[in-house]
Amino acid sequence: MSAKIIDGKEVARSIHEEVRKEAEKLRSRGIIPGLATVLVGDDPASRSYVKAKRKACEEDGIQSFHHPLPAETSQKELLTLITQLGEDPKVHGILVQLPLPAHIEENAVIRAIPPHKDVDGFHPENLGRLGLKGEEALFAPCTPAGVLELLMRAEVPVSGARAVVLGRSKIVGLPAALLLLRNDATVTICHSRTKDLPAVTKEADILIAAIGRANFVTAEMVKPGAAVIDVGVNRVEDSRKKRGYRLVGDCDFEAVAEVAGCLTPVPGGVGPMTIAMLMKNTLRAAERASPQSFDPRNHL
Ligand code: GUN
Repeated sequence: MSAKIIDGKEVARSIHEEVRKEAEKLRSRGIIPGLATVLVGDDPASRSYVKAKRKACEEDGIQSFHHPLPAETSQKELLTLITQLGEDPKVHGILVQLPLPAHIEENAVIRAIPPHKDVDGFHPENLGRLGLKGEEALFAPCTPAGVLELLMRAEVPVSGARAVVLGRSKIVGLPAALLLLRNDATVTICHSRTKDLPAVTKEADILIAAIGRANFVTAEMVKPGAAVIDVGVNRVEDSRKKRGYRLVGDCDFEAVAEVAGCLTPVPGGVGPMTIAMLMKNTLRAAERASPQSFDPRNHL
């Protein structure tokens, strides 16, 4: 193996530590940072993600307000809850776990979250600003923000680099591309209709894999020395494991590690960063709500 393995757990740990300290300072000024989590239905993966987010809140000194709702919840009921949370001064951030059941229009729900509480950064106001020169988003989506943080801390040059993003979802691919562009990379977004994908990925100094297919990225698709960030979390059957499966990323890890300059593992790469950045966004939202820390750059 020649690639340097980027330890996301370690980077996330230091971010949680910073958040804890800042949350304590806010508490001493009478502000308790608060995050509302909304989970509709009982998808096991979503349930475990939300559980991990609430545990991080507890560890970092952030109050968590959890709203588990049945899968049959109507869009109207969900929108009513979001309006209430938007008006609640104890709630600084609102996170609606995605995906939502098919009968609920995801975009309508995201639009109902006030942009200053949109700690996921998915509101069109925040996502739009992320792509606009001269504008500041109030929040950048957590997973792509974590990807950029890992690249920075691994001292991967971004400005002028050729970056290829596999996937165009609003959770990862699109905002990751916008963040890379903001940092002056030359960015290509690939998706299911992209022709001759290996020829495109092979050009990448930075390759972000976010398609959700196990072992999709092979060594032949990677430029020697490239920085490869694997955002995929895929379950593959494994009878040796008690739970019957193990988690793997979008990259054929062993083979890609022979070619890449640096690479994130799954688990232990981007995953822990998503939650760390969510805590950071929530803290920022609480700081902005504090009159003592008024900074016009932080407000619309
Ligand atoms: N589902 C998968 N990733 C995410 C995320 O970052 N935020 C929300 N709200 N839902 C998700």
